[in-house]
Amino acid sequence: MKKNPVYCAIDVSDLGTAQNLALQLSGKVGGLKIGMEFFYAHGQTGYELLSQQGQNIFLDLKLHDIPNTVAAAVRALVPLAPAYLNVHAGGGAAMMAAASKSAHETAGAAGVTPPCMLGVTVLTSLSQSDLNDIGVHGAPRDQVLRLANLAASNGMDGVVCSAEETAMLRSEMGPDFKLVVPGIRPAGAGHDDQKRVMTPEAAMAAGADVLVIGRAITQADDPAHAAQRITDALSMGA
Ligand code: C5P
Repeated sequence: MKKNPVYCAIDVSDLGTAQNLALQLSGKVGGLKIGMEFFYAHGQTGYELLSQQGQNIFLDLKLHDIPNTVAAAVRALVPLAPAYLNVHAGGGAAMMAAASKSAHETAGAAGVTPPCMLGVTVLTSLSQSDLNDIGVHGAPRDQVLRLANLAASNGMDGVVCSAEETAMLRSEMGPDFKLVVPGIRPAGAGHDDQKRVMTPEAAMAAGADVLVIGRAITQADDPAHAAQRITDALSMGA
């Protein structure tokens, strides 16, 4: 059977709500994305309560600090055995290399599979003028490509990117570099606060490996049914 590419973003801070979603989505999605909101509130205990339900986890903490500190954070997180873990590519070459080395060493020592390490390139909330304000000139997609190349050369297995950049990165970075794509909306769904969205089918056609989908599933009357509809549509189109 083909791997289910859908990871549902559990963007809630209430433990019961998160557990309920994890339970409802068990077997319906490829995994769950746990971010700062949930992890800062419930920590490793909360993480384990969600992963106990058998789901793969993308631990989206976007680490960004000096190499030594990021390596230590990765050392603390890898025993949880997330399928995906990320750091900001803007933290630089040495930081990413230290994160990757720490992930592999810790996984070996803990007897778990190393996480797929992802670099976060340019946050989609940043416009061209926001980038100029922090001293980054040129088109955002050039910065995305620059950081993706830096990530690939420093031990990252892939990047988180917007749907808009997926086709460009797939052709520039080759077939094995993982592209994890948020901002996905099934046809007909509302956009919420996302400005540029793509359907699951279009994002997969552009070369995505993982689709991060939050509200289109979590805010549906029946989240399990919403997830099932998305994955059914994907396998029909495959
Ligand atoms: O509800 P929605 O599907 O928009 O949720 C998307 C998820 O992906 C959220 O957890 C959001 O923080 C995350 N994300 C994003 N855009 C990025 C990076 C992450 O929407 N560029």
